[in-house]
Amino acid sequence: MDNMMFGRLLRAARQRSLMTMEGLAEASGVSGRAISDMERGQSLPRPSTLSVLMDALALDDEERRRLTRAATRRTTRTVAVPRQLPPDLMVFRGRTTALAEIHRCAEPVRAPGGHTVIAAIAGMAGIGKTTLAVHWAHQVADRFPDGQLYADCRGFDTTGSPLDPGEALGGFLHALGVPNGDIPATTEQRGILFRERTASRQLIVVLDNVRDSAQVRPLLPGSAESLTLVTSRNQLSGLAAVEGASVLTLDVWTPDEACAALAARIGERRCRAEPEAAAELVALCGRLPLAVAVIGAQLGATPRLPLRLAVAELRATRPRLDGLTTDDQRVDVRAAFACSYRTLDEATARFFRRLALHPGPVVSMEAAAALAAVELPQARRRLRALTAAGLISRDADGHHVLHDLVRAYGSELADQAGGVAE
Ligand SMILES: Nc1ncnc2c1ncn2[C@@H]1O[C@H](COP(=O)(O)OP(=O)(O)OP(=O)(O)O)[C@@H](O)[C@H]1O
Ligand SMILES: [Mg+2]
Repeated sequence: MDNMMFGRLLRAARQRSLMTMEGLAEASGVSGRAISDMERGQSLPRPSTLSVLMDALALDDEERRRLTRAATRRTTRTVAVPRQLPPDLMVFRGRTTALAEIHRCAEPVRAPGGHTVIAAIAGMAGIGKTTLAVHWAHQVADRFPDGQLYADCRGFDTTGSPLDPGEALGGFLHALGVPNGDIPATTEQRGILFRERTASRQLIVVLDNVRDSAQVRPLLPGSAESLTLVTSRNQLSGLAAVEGASVLTLDVWTPDEACAALAARIGERRCRAEPEAAAELVALCGRLPLAVAVIGAQLGATPRLPLRLAVAELRATRPRLDGLTTDDQRVDVRAAFACSYRTLDEATARFFRRLALHPGPVVSMEAAAALAAVELPQARRRLRALTAAGLISRDADGHHVLHDLVRAYGSELADQAGGVAE
């Protein structure tokens, strides 16, 4: 493994120095045959041979350090196999179509002449992107024997500070067995070392909750045999256009999926006893997995409460999102939407508050422009910004759709800001 790594580094350095193998042999006094063996990973040089080769190639300090490291790790380095995936969800339900779709996206991994495969899952807050990515990665983990890397990129997070790619790379390199002292200082150098270290590995890299395409790029592995799985509220159109990522947009659950998920959390028997109330509860959650998880947690804490009473309570609760909170910010519908809202500039935020006054979920560009009192081109730009933040989505006909609960959140904000008159 390390012979290969050293060989690749030596060849890359020689090519960067614009030297042929014969030229390097002549300049260093090392035979062309010996150099060829090293480049093909069949041998490693002695320290004195390495030194003359590096002099002849006129390498800088960083390159010398990397080459020396690769040449001397023959016996000391054990190959680290990271296992960083968070646990799979025990009560995972539904998503059959989406799972089949991701399988299809991942098929080209290791195909002849293959290239890096990136599959992205996009969609609004709490729709189940992370849960799906982690579930699927567990299902296929044994196809990737060199392990799994995982980073929560905190793109839309209560902390408000997305994960710095340099920090993420530091964590990945460490997990791949690079000692802390050997991790380069700059993001660029870390990226180079990361791509080298992953070049011949079969890994799954999960980049979860990313802010946008720019945050993902430095974290892409350098192997055609690895799979990168990305999740984001952003549609990642840059990653699709430039890196050829396949983007799957996740929608809310079907009514059956939502009922099955509620039953998995509160028990089949309780749902079967009041099937209509159960169906109404998930409808009041807008079939959003996060909202169903919240209701499931509330009902789990009140095992004797009849579901019809829970429906009545939820219907009567004002503001509506007060019925969908827990004491944990990570499982709280309003908090999840707020993380998206906080990323908007002030003009788009105002546009969003106006849009929330729309009476139904499907909003035409014209209606949006009229509500916000802006020209059509500006409405188009603002709608695009709201899509990028995961606050609205597009349906199969290209219409803009504002999820019920997002609309409720926007109305709350409009009320706080002084209603239509603001
Ligand atoms: N397929 C599923 N089966 C059961 N529960 C699910 C499923 N998908 C999501 N959930 C539940 O919904 C909640 C939100 O899911 P998740 O965190 O995956 O959403 P997300 O789209 O990644 O949200 P965010 O945009 O905030 O990152 C979780 O508590 C999870 O338990
Ligand atoms: Mg997520």
